Amino acid sequence: MPWNSRRQTRRTVLRVAAGLGGGLLAVAPRARRLLPAVAAPAGGVRQGVAVTAAVQTPYNGRGLTPVWGLNTYYGYGVDGFDEPTLLDAAQALLDTGLWQAGYRLIGIDDGWASFDRDADGNLAADPRKFPDGIDTTVARLHALGFAVGIYGDMGTQTCKGRPGSYQSEAQDAQWFAAQGFDYVKMDWCTAEAFDARERYTLMSQAIAATGRPITFAVCNWGRQNPWEWAPAIANSARTTSDLSGIFDDDVLDQRYGSYQWSCLLKNLDGNQHPEVVGPGYANDPDCLQVGNGFFASPLEEIAQLQLWAVMGAPMMLGLDVRSIGDETVRLLAHPQIQTIGRDVFARQGVRVGDQHGAETWIKPLSDRQSYAVVLFNRTDSPSTAALVWKDLLGVRSAYVRDLWNWSELGTQRDGWSVGLQPHGSRLLQVAPLR
Ligand code: GLA
Repeated sequence: MPWNSRRQTRRTVLRVAAGLGGGLLAVAPRARRLLPAVAAPAGGVRQGVAVTAAVQTPYNGRGLTPVWGLNTYYGYGVDGFDEPTLLDAAQALLDTGLWQAGYRLIGIDDGWASFDRDADGNLAADPRKFPDGIDTTVARLHALGFAVGIYGDMGTQTCKGRPGSYQSEAQDAQWFAAQGFDYVKMDWCTAEAFDARERYTLMSQAIAATGRPITFAVCNWGRQNPWEWAPAIANSARTTSDLSGIFDDDVLDQRYGSYQWSCLLKNLDGNQHPEVVGPGYANDPDCLQVGNGFFASPLEEIAQLQLWAVMGAPMMLGLDVRSIGDETVRLLAHPQIQTIGRDVFARQGVRVGDQHGAETWIKPLSDRQSYAVVLFNRTDSPSTAALVWKDLLGVRSAYVRDLWNWSELGTQRDGWSVGLQPHGSRLLQVAPLR
């Protein structure tokens, strides 16, 4: 079957249908009492925010919610991991409860491969890092309850000089499948001259031809607009340069905070292609830089978590999980980050308000009667974020819950506002009433 005929895309305005599903609001006694009163705005269509979303048939039935796990690149670098390290990381994820919180994929990034292919032309794992063969490592990680991801490149070489898959797509896909991988990330170093849609489609078809269920992650940094073609052939695509760095042509908002903060804003602002996101496909603004010393404060780390959750982004840990602190575990394992980030409606939240850098982000939830809202202060000054229900939802009152702080804010008439510290954020659930 040709690839594009497998995708049926139709745009729809999300309707807030009253009375569907129990969902999150059922947790609070007060909200339970209010539930029957939850009503759709006039006409049943959200008025203030025209959120559109692509409803599509997932191309391979995988990635129905965004992938969560650990990626080795930020936490371990290119030479900081081997089989014992990965097994220790998996054990640490289990011991800290992060596996239970949803981080269930170990993504092995650049640095795993030998610099040369083997005598048969196959990719080969570095024998010093994987002395028993990488298929054995994969089996051991599977036995601990993890899915396992691998990294390759669409060019002639990976970003760190290992063999790329250019013109070896079918052979490499077969090899990835034979090792037992569940996820393949394909990078774009040494490939910039190529047609990205063509090359990634080839790889996608090669992976499908293996018959193994494999989640496919495009990583070409937003080059050649992957959001226009990747949803039909992959489960995610990176939309920007790495969170740790910048390209010459990056547009940076450098008014606030540190270089690292500018990088966060760059990947946030560059990830705005919500119309193609749905079950089976996510825009990827790169890994979490939480708990690895990248950001200046826990406040900035919480902002990344809440924003990534409201965007429905893949959540890949970027730290050495063996030395993780309790506070980092608490942030990463926050149950409401999982509730919002992996909501099965799988929509990408959108920015609908900006009051001098105090931004409002909103994401419709699968209970069909409430929204996740993130209020976010990108600036270096304290700020106030004000929600006005009439503008946001076309109603006069709404039920509000502070998800991060586990507090019921109750029915609020007309709107609600809150002071935000510099780089601070709040994660709310809002249900329109009447
Ligand atoms: C590129 C990718 C990163 C990582 C490195 C590995 O920079 O964007 O995510 O995979 O290569 O070398």
